[in-house]
Amino acid sequence: MSHPIAIITGAASGIGLAVTKSLIAKGWRVVMADVDGKRGKEIAAELGQKVLFYTTDVSSYEQQAKLFKAAFDWGENRLDFFAANAGIADTEFLYDAKEHFDVNGVLQPLDLRTINVDLIAVIQGIWLFKHYARRNKIPGGKVVITSSAAGLYAMETNPLYTTAKHGLVGLARGLGPIFAKENIHVNAICPAFVPTALCPEEMLDRFPKEHITPMSTVIKVYDKLISDSSIYGQTVELSLDQLYFRTKPDYPNESQRWLGEDSAAFWEEAYKEPK
Ligand SMILES: NC(=O)c1ccc[n+]([C@@H]2O[C@H](COP(=O)([O-])OP(=O)(O)OC[C@H]3O[C@@H](n4cnc5c(N)ncnc54)[C@H](O)[C@@H]3O)[C@@H](O)[C@H]2O)c1
Repeated sequence: MSHPIAIITGAASGIGLAVTKSLIAKGWRVVMADVDGKRGKEIAAELGQKVLFYTTDVSSYEQQAKLFKAAFDWGENRLDFFAANAGIADTEFLYDAKEHFDVNGVLQPLDLRTINVDLIAVIQGIWLFKHYARRNKIPGGKVVITSSAAGLYAMETNPLYTTAKHGLVGLARGLGPIFAKENIHVNAICPAFVPTALCPEEMLDRFPKEHITPMSTVIKVYDKLISDSSIYGQTVELSLDQLYFRTKPDYPNESQRWLGEDSAAFWEEAYKEPK
């Protein structure tokens, strides 16, 4: 039987690179995607034949679509796993005093790259993954979305990152049950602070050691979500060496419980066709 195939975005650094190394050690073949082509190619050359590096800016649908096609071809019509992992912090602050104007004095729009990379690209990636997962010899596959603790709580310095990461939690919860019917298992992970290049370099050494979540916890959750097909639509918070499966918020009354759990037949009829 051929080796299972994964696509990992943001694979040239941090979490994506650690997951890449962990999977190839377990016999996987990994298509590493990253916007940093130079670093990615150097690392891929060191990792050898088990990886294929593909320079990809995930915020370009065209580039991500080419990545998926290349991966499916490289895997000889096989794609088992997608780690939607690439992410960036806020590139402009919504609360910033600095503003830019065009020649007519009209305020320029806010830079929304964070939303494009951290949220929209993930949605498009899952759209692409579904297409190929349905064409696997045994249709189906697994997706792990890298949200963040900022997807559960607020990171006040980074409101756009917080918005995108909350959106990813909603995406996993909303898609999980319906995709599971066709053997595609989607979950989101919410790591606390893991020391990577995401944190400005000069601040890394100053982060309190007792609040660091090690990469081993990240690898542990990937192993669990890849091996256990009974888990889907879940949000897993990672803190220190622990995994916490976070359930939806409590319903305040019976009416909201009905809306959340028993109203599916109503909505299925209402949304037979997209509006
Ligand atoms: N490190 C943490 O503490 C932490 C905590 C919670 C969530 N996360 C999330 O984990 C994920 C991985 O981050 P990391 O901590 O490993 O950071 P990292 O900066 O080490 O790695 C991110 C990688 O994504 C790549 N990337 C950025 N924009 C891209 C784009 N448009 N297309 C393709 N690749 C792109 C970067 O080049 C980099 O290699 C991110 O989604 C991040 O938000 C990290």
